[in-house]
Amino acid sequence: MHQDYIKAAKWSILEEGFDNDRIKSSESLFSIGNGAMGQRANFEEDYSGDTFQGSYIAGIYYPDKTRVGWWKNGYPEYFAKVLNAPNWIGIKVSVNGENLDLNTCKSVTEFKRELNMKEGWYQRSFTATLPNNITIKVQSTRFLSLDLDEIGAIRYNITPINAEAEISLSPYIDADITNEDSNWDDQFWEILTIENDANGALISTRTLKTDFHVATGMINRLSLNNEELNISAKQSTSANKISFTYTVSVSKENTLTLDKFGGYTVSTNHKKNKLNKASKAALQKAFTIGFEKLLKQQKKDWKAIWDMADIEIEGDLKAQQGIRFNIFQLNQTYLGKDARLNIGPKGFTGEKYGGSTYWDTEAYCLPFYMSTKNQEVAKSLLTYRYQHLDKAIENAEKLGFSNGAALYPMVTMNGEECHNEWEITFEEIHRNGAMTYAIYNYVKYTGDFSYIPEKGLEVMIAIARFWQQRANFSSERGKYVILGVTGPNEYENNVNNNHYTNYLAKWCIEYCLQAIDKVKLEYASDYNRIWKATNLSDIELTKWEDVAKNMYFPYCEKYQVYLQQDGFLDKDLITLNNLDTAERPINQKWSWDRILRSPYIKQADTLQGMYMFDDEYSREELKRHFDFYEPFTVHESSLSPCVHSIIAARLGNMDQAYEFYLRTSRLDLDDYNKEVEEGCHITSMAGTWMSIVEGFGGMKVIDNKLSFVPQIPKQWKSYSFKINFRGNVLQINVSKKETTFNLIKGDSLTILVNGNVLKVTDHKEIVSF
Ligand code: BGC
Repeated sequence: MHQDYIKAAKWSILEEGFDNDRIKSSESLFSIGNGAMGQRANFEEDYSGDTFQGSYIAGIYYPDKTRVGWWKNGYPEYFAKVLNAPNWIGIKVSVNGENLDLNTCKSVTEFKRELNMKEGWYQRSFTATLPNNITIKVQSTRFLSLDLDEIGAIRYNITPINAEAEISLSPYIDADITNEDSNWDDQFWEILTIENDANGALISTRTLKTDFHVATGMINRLSLNNEELNISAKQSTSANKISFTYTVSVSKENTLTLDKFGGYTVSTNHKKNKLNKASKAALQKAFTIGFEKLLKQQKKDWKAIWDMADIEIEGDLKAQQGIRFNIFQLNQTYLGKDARLNIGPKGFTGEKYGGSTYWDTEAYCLPFYMSTKNQEVAKSLLTYRYQHLDKAIENAEKLGFSNGAALYPMVTMNGEECHNEWEITFEEIHRNGAMTYAIYNYVKYTGDFSYIPEKGLEVMIAIARFWQQRANFSSERGKYVILGVTGPNEYENNVNNNHYTNYLAKWCIEYCLQAIDKVKLEYASDYNRIWKATNLSDIELTKWEDVAKNMYFPYCEKYQVYLQQDGFLDKDLITLNNLDTAERPINQKWSWDRILRSPYIKQADTLQGMYMFDDEYSREELKRHFDFYEPFTVHESSLSPCVHSIIAARLGNMDQAYEFYLRTSRLDLDDYNKEVEEGCHITSMAGTWMSIVEGFGGMKVIDNKLSFVPQIPKQWKSYSFKINFRGNVLQINVSKKETTFNLIKGDSLTILVNGNVLKVTDHKEIVSF
């Protein structure tokens, strides 16, 4: 059973009732972020129960020294970790001298959390009776400003209910912070200075090794029943913490309010010697604007995001909440404003995966950002990898490749590989193909080929070189083979001829060759520049061609399917419906040895390729492969159900498509994989979006035209979404009897619907079923 305590609502994530066992899960689910920073939904006041503290800053990392049993040549020295940053949200609360800690209260009632996705804020409220029998009501609202992205704001209201009480509120900054996943229990932060004035303070710190400087600040305002109070705080400072204490006698039913503004300024955006000044200026600005006006702006800014990105579903509240949660979290993580940043698989909701960049961005996230933001944002994501090309070439050199071949890292912060499990670092090389695929996808969607001569081609050449060198000719088979790899299915290692990998290798080479021809014809000066810079020769291109033409693909005549890898059929092919559900998830129940020998597939693998290149396969072929692989797929990677949902929809199997859709969209809300405590799965959330748009909506780009094959799950009345396509904004509304297309921006757009040409203008074009 998956968890089901989150209440369904159209625009909010809701929790009611206090339960110690759910704290960590809710800390993940109610996380907030603004693209520049993010934090788990930790309590402001002390909490002695089980909790996972986390506040993270985009792009600020630490190279944590690798810890492995047996060192292998080629391993990176470090694993780059997104850092748990100094805590600025903390407010210690004491009532008649008794510390407020929900874990030790006599009772906690009316506990409620709301994450308001429409407006971008998080609120928690409760009534608690402390051990000294004073009952208080608390309501705390906080948000990370989209407008001032170095600033977050908290409004903390506290009301004594049954007696007058002396209440002390102590907002603080705590820089004594570590990561739970630190390899050697290292301290990552060094304290530089602590500064304070009457109502504000900052602690400036630097990360060891990477030398990022960060100023963490706060400024406070106190009021009683909405009247500002001018009382001075008792200040206390230790080596890594500064705290202000405001003490007020509060009558029964009166409300004491602390507005605390806090946040980070970082040396990636400011000169180091100006950082503290910048922090004070940002805080002062927020303080002058005030909580309410900042919140008003926040609502406006989220409205602008939703105006373009929302997907509305009628008739299915859980599905509606699911998709909005996914779209909300993606926008909390990455807004496309800064080409140095990327989309970590856990965003700002946890430490796991180091907040680093994976192939997830290219294979899953790009379409969402391309369609719901714009071409520039998509280009920023591509440029991120272009800027890492030299590092990818160095990485390949370390592993023995030459002549400018590049192997992009599996996990990275700055272009260097920082993953260190041999089966992934050295073997999961399919990620390289996703880089070229993303360029292809961008060009196909935007029509902007000019990115290829400008930047893309150099990346594509380096990748094609890698594939040519990585394949070897098998005289036994008379074909090129790729040995010793891990496919997307990480439950198999060191396999030979993984279909997905071999296919991508062949495709990357062919696509690069085509691009070279086009650049030669149409962009002569770029062609000359690139040809020289990369030292290409016709002899080399002939070698590439030979590899692509003669690539080997394991195939089974009996079942008429491509095999995931050599020898797949030797496995004990017991389908999952014969496996006791108590055995799952297998990655938590079984030994690794048992997993490796089993036929069970962690995530879409052969089917991943068939989703990406589905024009190459007939419907019958696709169905055969889906029917063959789905019964073995455990979907223990968040990236998996969305691909199966899309394929099921393409096959017209809407019931199954819907089931996978729910699984992908509510993966975290319902905690299917029993790990949400560690953080949410952000990158796969873009896959949820694809499940609706590409799966149910059947959207593709065919010959420079948007094409749709709309279907609707029987559980839904209708759904609608918007697409930014080459500067036009198209709204699509699908109901059981018809689909309407409305051009909201642009003069006219010719699209395909179920294969027929339709010209859409600014009035509604309707296609009936
Ligand atoms: C998946 C990878 C993915 C990574 C980060 C792993 O569990 O198997 O494909 O890149 O998570 O999302």
